[in-house]
Amino acid sequence: MNAPHIRLATEADLAAINAIYNHYVEHSTCTYQLAPESEAARLAWFYRHGAAHPVTVAEAAGEVLGWASLNVFNPREAYARTVENSVYIHHEHHRRGLGRAMLADLIARARALDHHTIIAGISAEQTASIRLHLGFGFEEIGRLRQVGFKHGQWLDVVSMQLML
Ligand SMILES: CC(C)(COP(=O)(O)OP(=O)(O)OC[C@H]1O[C@@H](n2cnc3c(N)ncnc32)[C@H](O)[C@@H]1OP(=O)(O)O)[C@@H](O)C(=O)NCCC(=O)NCCS
Repeated sequence: MNAPHIRLATEADLAAINAIYNHYVEHSTCTYQLAPESEAARLAWFYRHGAAHPVTVAEAAGEVLGWASLNVFNPREAYARTVENSVYIHHEHHRRGLGRAMLADLIARARALDHHTIIAGISAEQTASIRLHLGFGFEEIGRLRQVGFKHGQWLDVVSMQLML
């Protein structure tokens, strides 16, 4: 496979982004969304992400293999330089370094955009994601107990934070 290229997403990538994400809506607790994201909701999500909150994709041989984003942490103005992050790699392309490459790129973009800190809210049993974030120096700063209920179980959320 050609080396993946990480770039800003365009509207043409949204179907691939949704396909990657909706697999996890159905099969995983890594997102607490229960019903698949619709095309219309994804389009609105994309256009809510302004220049300070980029959406990126990793592409190889014309195929989108993963996506990532910086998200508004809280719309109150004083939170403007705090962001939340998302990284989703296609489930058939795990453990090939894509998640690490996408998160490294996202952190570099956050620094270049003069953000101050990144928060990741991760379901506590999502070991892959927790280890990925630990590898970049994110630290656990708290745990919300049994705030989610999915696939028949109560779920804790671990808050992780990276100072930029
Ligand atoms: C978490 C996720 C993004 C990792 O992406 P990936 O491309 O498979 O990960 P990489 O190959 O880049 O691995 C980077 C590091 O992450 C950790 N990691 C990844 N998968 C792991 C697993 N199954 N178990 C334990 N650690 C894992 C390891 O520390 C790994 O480093 P190593 O390979 O040197 O041990 C991917 O599993 C995914 O998309 N999961 C579903 C969505 C999700 O949970 N997103 C994060 C929350 S927004």
